[in-house]
Amino acid sequence: MTHSAPVSARRDLADAPLLVAARGGRPARTPVWFMRQAGRSLPEYRQVREGVPMLQACLTPELVREITAQPVRRHGVDAAILFSDIVLPLYAAGVGLDIVAGTGPVVADPVRTAADVERLPSLDPEQVAPVAEAVRLLLDELDRTPLIGFAGAPFTLASYLVEGGPSRNHERTKALMHSEPRTWHALLEKLADTTLTFLRAQLAAGVDAIQLFDSWAGALSLRDYQEFVLPHSRRIFAGVAEVADVPKIHFGVGTGELLGSMRQAGADVVGVDWRIPLDTAVRRLEGAMPDAPPPVVQGNLDPALLFAGWDAIEAEVRRIVAEGRAAGGHIVNLGHGVLPTTDPEVLTRVVELVHSLEG
Ligand code: CP3
Repeated sequence: MTHSAPVSARRDLADAPLLVAARGGRPARTPVWFMRQAGRSLPEYRQVREGVPMLQACLTPELVREITAQPVRRHGVDAAILFSDIVLPLYAAGVGLDIVAGTGPVVADPVRTAADVERLPSLDPEQVAPVAEAVRLLLDELDRTPLIGFAGAPFTLASYLVEGGPSRNHERTKALMHSEPRTWHALLEKLADTTLTFLRAQLAAGVDAIQLFDSWAGALSLRDYQEFVLPHSRRIFAGVAEVADVPKIHFGVGTGELLGSMRQAGADVVGVDWRIPLDTAVRRLEGAMPDAPPPVVQGNLDPALLFAGWDAIEAEVRRIVAEGRAAGGHIVNLGHGVLPTTDPEVLTRVVELVHSLEG
């Protein structure tokens, strides 16, 4: 595979607020974007997605271009995030799975034994060529708005594969981890390879930053995270750094106890959900790596608060921006994805409010 220079060297994005903040600099305005900003909260999304299955949509470059650009046009957010899904590279590699509306990813043959792991196909970059094509289309359209590429981290992908679908307690996943650690590590190694191939394909096509979603890592104890997960996520960040000098964001839900380790995995920016105050998160990140530059954080507005009325939302946004000043840099975001029934006009107002505040 050939790797082009990071796109920020090709397009004039040197002062894009998101990239400046991600590198620990002082942007002209506080950057803001929303996880799951492209999706069911937008009528224009529901219209273009009508009749097209989710994973097929992710492999249709023109549709990915349109859906990715929709929230940038509507809300004026400081970043676009590629419309895709964490299970897309597994699907593209030939794993039997589907995304079921209202449920999430469902896997036909769950992966539970050493033989299952052995059979798991690896990803050839050609299998995600439509995603690379979508990135190229987007670079033309987005002009000076950075494009964030993303992938799922090995633990969260493993959870879907082992459980066979979404899981509240991740009991089969934890059982495999503890009862057959060699099989577990073999599985996570394969998944890390797939994730890295997927991210490198996006980077070669020109994404300006990447986010690694370990959404369900917060289900783990710190000790288990460090032993069973961290080495694999670290290999992904190192593999990204080898090919591109772009900001690397790492996020999971309920990861208050894991934040320091998630930074140690190699993230430049650590995503924080709403369960801990942003300044507390900053202190934990500093404590975990006292000799590193001041930590950069992303977050952490509770997505459910977007239903609480403007006065409550405004107070919360102001508090979060103020708490973010404790960090080396702050990218405003939700603590998890936009809920499908969110009023999109509220999201636009949040963007306007953040942009009006001193960072
Ligand atoms: O942020 C963005 O705007 C980019 C789009 C994006 C999607 N999935 C589109 C999507 C991103 C970043 C993801 C990542 C993803 N997918 C994660 C990590 C982020 C997180 O929320 O923690 C996870 C855990 C998944 C797995 C997944 N895919 C779930 C849980 C669901 C929701 C199922 C449902 O219907 O409630 C999906 C499907 C999915 N991915 C949708 C979208 C817009 C909804 C499908 C649809 O519109 O038909």
